[in-house]
Amino acid sequence: MKLRHTHPAKTILRVAPALLVLCATCAALQQPLQAAPNPNKGKNKNKSQSQAQPQAQYKPITIATAGIELILGPGEDGIFSQLYYGPANREKPAPPQRKQRRDSSLRENEVYPQYGNGFIATPALRVTHADGNTSTDLAYASHTVTKPADDITLTRIELSDKAYPGLRVALCYRAYRDENIIEQWSEITNNETAPVTLYNYASAALIASAQSYYLTQLQGDYRTEAGLTEEKLVPGIKILDSKIGVRAHQFRNPSFILSLDGPAREETGDVIGGALEWAGSFQFAFEVDNAGRLRALCGINPFAAEYRLDAGETLVTPALLHTYSTEGKGGMSRNFHRWARAHGGIRDASKPRPVLLNNWEATHFDFDENKIISLFDGAKEIGADLFLLDDGWFGNNHPRDNDKAGLGDWEPNAKKLPNGLTHLADAAKSRGIGFGIWLEPEMVNPASDLFEKHPDWVITQPNRAPLLRRNQLILDNNRPEAQAFERGIFDRTLAPNPGITYVKWDCNRFVTQPGSSYLPADKQTRLLVDYQFHLYDLMRYFAQKYPNVMAMLCSGGSGRVDYGSLRYFHSFWASDNTDPRQRVFIQWGFSQFFPSESVSAHVTDMGQRPLKFALDVALSGAFGVDRDVARWTPAERAQVAAAVKLYHDRIRPVTAGGALYRLNSPYEMPRATLEYVAPDRARAIVFIYNLDKSDSVFPAIKPLGLDAAKTYRVREINLPASATTRLAPYGATGATLMRDGFAAPVSGPLESAIIEITVE
Ligand code: DGJ
Repeated sequence: MKLRHTHPAKTILRVAPALLVLCATCAALQQPLQAAPNPNKGKNKNKSQSQAQPQAQYKPITIATAGIELILGPGEDGIFSQLYYGPANREKPAPPQRKQRRDSSLRENEVYPQYGNGFIATPALRVTHADGNTSTDLAYASHTVTKPADDITLTRIELSDKAYPGLRVALCYRAYRDENIIEQWSEITNNETAPVTLYNYASAALIASAQSYYLTQLQGDYRTEAGLTEEKLVPGIKILDSKIGVRAHQFRNPSFILSLDGPAREETGDVIGGALEWAGSFQFAFEVDNAGRLRALCGINPFAAEYRLDAGETLVTPALLHTYSTEGKGGMSRNFHRWARAHGGIRDASKPRPVLLNNWEATHFDFDENKIISLFDGAKEIGADLFLLDDGWFGNNHPRDNDKAGLGDWEPNAKKLPNGLTHLADAAKSRGIGFGIWLEPEMVNPASDLFEKHPDWVITQPNRAPLLRRNQLILDNNRPEAQAFERGIFDRTLAPNPGITYVKWDCNRFVTQPGSSYLPADKQTRLLVDYQFHLYDLMRYFAQKYPNVMAMLCSGGSGRVDYGSLRYFHSFWASDNTDPRQRVFIQWGFSQFFPSESVSAHVTDMGQRPLKFALDVALSGAFGVDRDVARWTPAERAQVAAAVKLYHDRIRPVTAGGALYRLNSPYEMPRATLEYVAPDRARAIVFIYNLDKSDSVFPAIKPLGLDAAKTYRVREINLPASATTRLAPYGATGATLMRDGFAAPVSGPLESAIIEITVE
């Protein structure tokens, strides 16, 4: 059996032995990614084995975490319905008394509805069988419940079609007890005698039932990423999607917030949050029916993506991560953040993210060895941990002096860097800093040795003049030689240069002309789906083979940010827009789903904002600098160095791993306040920004999440040497602080403050 997988082996290995059979054929591709320790791995094996028995039919199946339950029920005719999704402690509706019938309206609650034999809304699955029949009628067959770890339960529900027993569908749910996250996907197996075609193949089809639904998306474009847009859903279908295949999140992130019974609030109200583990074209289709019920179909975008599944093949769809929060968007975000940290959603969560000095904004393509080494001195002076050499270091016959040439020719440019990368890594090391490089492994410029030798290795279509974007084309990773070449990029640059300890992985164009000269005519529409599977293989190859090389996910800003990719990366580049005033919004948007240590935030000159403001905004994320430090005055350099020290010693230990509370939204007022509370609640950091270009009066800042009984000390930090605080340090109990708050020590245009709250 051939499998297309999106799940990392780390996850696969947690699956009970009985289910490993399913995954054995792809074991070679699915070697475990080192790090992200799973203390429970291997525990409860016997229990898992004994539980992996088919369970009795017709009884409701509960997918449960500590705080939420998703209850599913097969009726006597096998139709499988969602009976409940919500908090575990809420009263559940009684299961339907009467028999479900295929012509009954109860079908509207069907968990994974299929096209053709009675279901009349948008289906989760639409298949044309080997004999041409366009309908599918799945019924419950069996299910297993296993415990891959103490805090994780995997439920696998097998469905089959009596008339077409060769088509098997498994609905899979991994429930993370402590984080209240459910990870859900489907596995579609073709055991018919010839290929079938999948037209719709959703990962999940969640149902909600409320008086009203408000949908929030993270919408934007290059330099305006992750803007929050909320709208009320009305009967009919609202689709959030991407059709551009690679760099697929350019216009919106594959995540959503669905608020029930009113617009989403920050700390109260029922909210379902969803994030798809998929770097490619995705679709969320929210259909409100005449009964006021909502179904959210989530998965790979079926648009132009008919998937011809050969006999013997299984398609494993990307997983949707979802949570149900009764504490509004804040509770939703904290669930996602805790999950990402505890379960490998971001790579090496416990590893401190280094302070980077990146040269892109400082030099663009215009540098040489001496210039770069001079920047190392600035990096050392401010206390940065690592220098990241951006685009422009490679290409000889086609030097990468601008974005028109060189992509694909990953040899150091001998004119700019006569002594190569090793020399640079050594020069950085001698100053006590690490060294990293920029790569864009999926891409090629027509002006390159690579393209001249292999013009057929790119995604394009016959009878069309190739369409360039940023002067480049995408390598067709369906072709094995191109895959081998891409792996070789890492082997040729990293293996001989162990001094390179960081990679920024960029991706600067989306797909047009989606064609492959490698794939047969009847598999052309698989191209972009399979591209993502091969891309994840490449990311996994890199992460497993170079476990000590840290990595930033970048895509011309954040044109690609998803939990399918982030397990191989330590952070992502949130935007090329580093104007700190704009960054407050962009980082606010990403904070809905992604923890602070995954959001790379660098100080630059952009927007010409006050340095203190720029520092305070970047310090709330994975901090760095993108500037020639020598262009700052000595006093400014000292200010930046002090901020770096503070970040290392007192900010990062709280923000990385801390619980996020968004106290004042920039969408409601020209001000923003964020708070991070350390897991032991002994420390908190509050970031306060006045976004007004004139004076602004803040409401009292009322922290959340503190220990009511403890006494805390409150003080302002990161003040420039010449400044005095307007908040005299004082002590108060957590209860008093949370009730009365404190006056924000900012009011002037683009003023900001960082407040440290520590147990006395
Ligand atoms: C786009 C990225 O977002 C930038 O930070 C920079 O790396 C350029 N690409 C380099 O071409």
